[in-house]
Amino acid sequence: DWTPFAFAEETIAQLKADLQDDKVVLGLSGGVDSSVAALLLHQAIGKNLHCIFVDNGLLRKNEFESVLDSYKELGLNVKGVNAKQRFYDALAGLSDPEQKRKAIGRVFIEVFDDEAHQISDVKWLAQGTIYPDVIESVSVNGGPSATIKSHHNVGGLPDFMKLKVVEPLKTLFKDEVRRVGKALGLPENILHRHPFPGPGLAIRILGDVTPEKVAILQNADHIYIKNLEESGWYDKVWQAGTIYLPIQSVGVMGDERTYENVVALRAVSSVDGMTADWSHLPYELLAKISNEIINNVKGVNRVVYDISSKPPATIEWE
Ligand code: XMP
Repeated sequence: DWTPFAFAEETIAQLKADLQDDKVVLGLSGGVDSSVAALLLHQAIGKNLHCIFVDNGLLRKNEFESVLDSYKELGLNVKGVNAKQRFYDALAGLSDPEQKRKAIGRVFIEVFDDEAHQISDVKWLAQGTIYPDVIESVSVNGGPSATIKSHHNVGGLPDFMKLKVVEPLKTLFKDEVRRVGKALGLPENILHRHPFPGPGLAIRILGDVTPEKVAILQNADHIYIKNLEESGWYDKVWQAGTIYLPIQSVGVMGDERTYENVVALRAVSSVDGMTADWSHLPYELLAKISNEIINNVKGVNRVVYDISSKPPATIEWE
């Protein structure tokens, strides 16, 4: 019978035999797959695993810092890289969703390649590829590895792509990855995190991305997610997020007329992201979230709830 403990034990032994004293580089995304891959490799080769965690400035509020702390507490040899400005510069003026995705993928590869070059004598690239990624070949939620896959034919291979590849999770399904992560002591904040797209908040800001819009969206989203957690809904929905709409509408605040932005809340139930139903969050909870956002997030005067299922709508708006 398959157990997460037996899987971990066998995989760690195999990794030790395969990698010996070689150095390995791995990109952490904050998601469960890359994190579990890192824990297995860490147990097998310790400090020879060099993890890189890039802050693209498009993560949720405080997420880079809190996830980096978790990685450090786990004892991982991890380098946090603040590359926010490089991503914002590359995104400036772009409003087409595919152009935004391409720009983010390109900058990620540049940043990762720069960092990988600073590790002397690295021999392997580790990836958190899981079985569904192998069969689909393009992962919907793969973070760095998916980004790399969809960009590897652009302008020749970066040097880190010429490394030998090690993928310790490639026979596992998502729920098995979670069980292995739990067995290895991965904290709840990573283990039960909702899927989050590689391009992050950039595809939840419709139109062009600016640091100011990112900050507004982070603040609104933080209130939304906090309320989902406190009400017990976070674990009942498959994915949730806030979308910054490129329109303004009239509101009233005291005696003043306002003309500010609209955010949309999205929550869905799903098994694999291929189809999804909008979640029937209680009206009282939606009312509380809406009030908190409008009263606390400067720049937002209207909140709407997305009641579209996939298909024909998608989960993300871009
Ligand atoms: P859609 O919007 O296609 O999303 O219904 C399905 C799932 O995929 C995620 N998603 C992405 N993940 N890079 C990613 O790594 C992307 O460009 C991307 N676009 C969508 C989305 O968050 C949902 O979980």
